[in-house]
Amino acid sequence: MALQDKDRIFTNVYGFQPWNLAAARQRGDWDNTKALMERGQDAIIEEIKASGLRGRGGAGFPTGMKWSFMPKESKDGRPSFLVINADESEPGSCKDREIIRHDPHKLIEGALIAGYAMRARAAYIYIRGEYIREAETLFAAVQEAYDAGLIGKNASGSGYDFDVFVHRGAGAYICGEETAMIESLEGKKGQPRLKPPFPAGAGLYGCPTTVNNVESIAVAPTILRRGASWFSSFGRENNKGTKLFQISGHVNRPCVVEEEMSIPFSELIEKHCGGIRGGKDNLLAVIPGGSSVPLVPAAEIWDAPMDFDGLRALGSGLGTAAVIVMDKSTDIVRAISRLSYFYKHESCGQCTPCREGTGWMWRVMERLRTGDADVEEIDMLFNVTKQVEGHTICALGDAAAWPIQGLIRHFRPEIERRIAENARPALSEAAE
Ligand SMILES: Cc1cc2nc3c(=O)[nH]c(=O)nc-3n(C[C@H](O)[C@H](O)[C@H](O)COP(=O)(O)O)c2cc1C
Ligand code: SF4
Repeated sequence: MALQDKDRIFTNVYGFQPWNLAAARQRGDWDNTKALMERGQDAIIEEIKASGLRGRGGAGFPTGMKWSFMPKESKDGRPSFLVINADESEPGSCKDREIIRHDPHKLIEGALIAGYAMRARAAYIYIRGEYIREAETLFAAVQEAYDAGLIGKNASGSGYDFDVFVHRGAGAYICGEETAMIESLEGKKGQPRLKPPFPAGAGLYGCPTTVNNVESIAVAPTILRRGASWFSSFGRENNKGTKLFQISGHVNRPCVVEEEMSIPFSELIEKHCGGIRGGKDNLLAVIPGGSSVPLVPAAEIWDAPMDFDGLRALGSGLGTAAVIVMDKSTDIVRAISRLSYFYKHESCGQCTPCREGTGWMWRVMERLRTGDADVEEIDMLFNVTKQVEGHTICALGDAAAWPIQGLIRHFRPEIERRIAENARPALSEAAE
């Protein structure tokens, strides 16, 4: 059964109503926020833990647990900070922008509640540079919240002082990685930091910091109002709640839709997207979680539950739930090669396996695309992806490796066909 309207958190995701404070209040936002805060910091964290909410930025780390890592009191006078990740640069992802441009007060109220729960002095919302109109809306909504006394000194009459700052990025994918984001906020080049120390110990300006995705923060007030058990009544064990799915590519009606976690792929596509272009049998493969996760072939994805564990069982991942659908007209090798080019372009260059490996992998991918390669190079490329994966400072290296691994795992015959058609002798034969 699909999610009913009454259980949707983002009731203005399509922007049918205004985004402003008056309209947001009518939708239930900022309704006695003080009372939510009066429950106490630990009680808020416990409720979020009990809801089963897992981070919506890609990795799916349990949100309540993350908040609980923050210090309960400052022993040396350092303040704590919340950083909200609105960088949304993963190809295919387009959900945080819908929240920001149509429902920004959900995010700002969430920032206050989450920030209060982790004893943060302020929240910094780091928004992708290309989101120009979204940033305008966000700036205006934050100003509205200040003017109404909802944030700032004595936020919402709670006695707690809390600021919200909006910071615009300059268009680098890597600044979505949490420690690169912190560096960028500090005015430095956006390059990931080595961990440890983890941000909860030493993050922004060397102070305890938690970085959370926009959606993770924006759902928090509704979870508190409706209760953890309401939220956890959706989805399967360990994969709870509602989720914004973003379906793009070869469906009849691409869309962003809030659905129950664990909804089968087929239901998501048939109910909300008008089906696969040309019908079910025309489906070739799906990248279910944004460009960083391996593709899943048509036969395996059709009945799969769209959640963290269901997609991991298929060797892929939910990621940001950006579902890229590809029908049989797709040149699948070219599609993955194009993603390789993206990662090569976005590598920050700090670690050798990523800096050199992303370019190397892309160049081989381009030759596989045209068939100008030897069959042995398929395994060689796979081995190189394994040498990049897990050997870098941040997960961009993994993100560059995984799509190629998925391609080789599932579409090796297609790659071999191109090489055979190009009819070059194999390396071993040439050596004889
Ligand atoms: C290269 C790279 C890019 C990332 N980009 C984003 C992004 O645009 N938005 C996001 O929320 N998380 C992004 N992440 C994940 C963040 O590092 C972090 O895990 C996330 O913001 C945590 O939020 P959550 O716990 O609420 O999911 C990225 C990670 C990597 C390695
Ligand atoms: S993995 Fe790539 S993007 Fe990440 S720190 Fe290393 S070089 Fe930079």
